[in-house]
Amino acid sequence: MSNEYIPVLLSTIVVDTKVGCDLYLEVCENDKINYILYCDETKVFNQDKISGLIKNKIGYLYIRKQDLKIYSKYLEPCLKKVVESDDIGSAAKAKIVYDVAKNIMEDFFSNPRSGVPVGRVKNWVSTTVGMIMNDTHSSPLINILSYDYYTYTHSVNVAILGLLFSKCIGLKLEEINAVGIGLLLHDVGKTHINFDILNKKGKLTDEEFEKVKMHVELGLKMLSQVGSIEEASFFPVMQHHEKNNGKGYPQGLRDNAIHQYGKIAAIIDVYDALTTRRPYSDARKPFTALKIMRDEMGGSFDEKLFAEFIFFLNQAV
Ligand SMILES: [Fe+2]
Repeated sequence: MSNEYIPVLLSTIVVDTKVGCDLYLEVCENDKINYILYCDETKVFNQDKISGLIKNKIGYLYIRKQDLKIYSKYLEPCLKKVVESDDIGSAAKAKIVYDVAKNIMEDFFSNPRSGVPVGRVKNWVSTTVGMIMNDTHSSPLINILSYDYYTYTHSVNVAILGLLFSKCIGLKLEEINAVGIGLLLHDVGKTHINFDILNKKGKLTDEEFEKVKMHVELGLKMLSQVGSIEEASFFPVMQHHEKNNGKGYPQGLRDNAIHQYGKIAAIIDVYDALTTRRPYSDARKPFTALKIMRDEMGGSFDEKLFAEFIFFLNQAV
């Protein structure tokens, strides 16, 4: 029973707000853990409720696992407050930042007709960049990345790794923001590709691969229709499958014809795909993934950036 509930930090709940899901207390009676309803979903979490918990030195409440989406949605507008709070540790902040992004992308990929959530994406990126710039350690965010591959978790993993890497190579704040937006949205075109092809276990036929390739241009089209995305953010979308040796797609660009943000996206896209569990392969360890990228994909990546990526992972993981 106990694994149906997950802890949420009391300090993430803002006084006089409605979280929107039931909040429980964990109590241990006769060696058995039970969860007792403390604040039901229709009620405002008022100061009395907070004071009662603080008085009893209770720092966590619990929610049902299936309510994580509701809780993540609740946290989204307070994300800045959460990452700037001195009462929340860096591992907890990383988890919240990850869950909020996952929720934004899951909403979009499960209902693409709702439109590309540009406002939500921009808010998340700027808040996360703010946190990253003030943090000396990358590891809490890296440790939270999902090992299970879904298009939405892959998008979040790629964005988080890309933001941290961009800071490591000295990009400016506005540049990190621009690259981050593009990375989070780099695969939005996959919403137009047949699910069975995307999740096929075996090798794709030539015809299927041609269809998959179209996600780049379809994604670009979707983002240009939004209108409020700056041009620099298009590069990770447009060029994440380009290869330094000209063997990538859609344009077969070479070397410096590929924008720096495209090169960053290409490295991280492959790295995350290799280090997460896929329908056709297990998750590789970072070292194994880097070795495959160096030995089996030679010429695909910008050499200098790839060396910097190895350096970055070395000190971050
Ligand atoms: Fe892609």
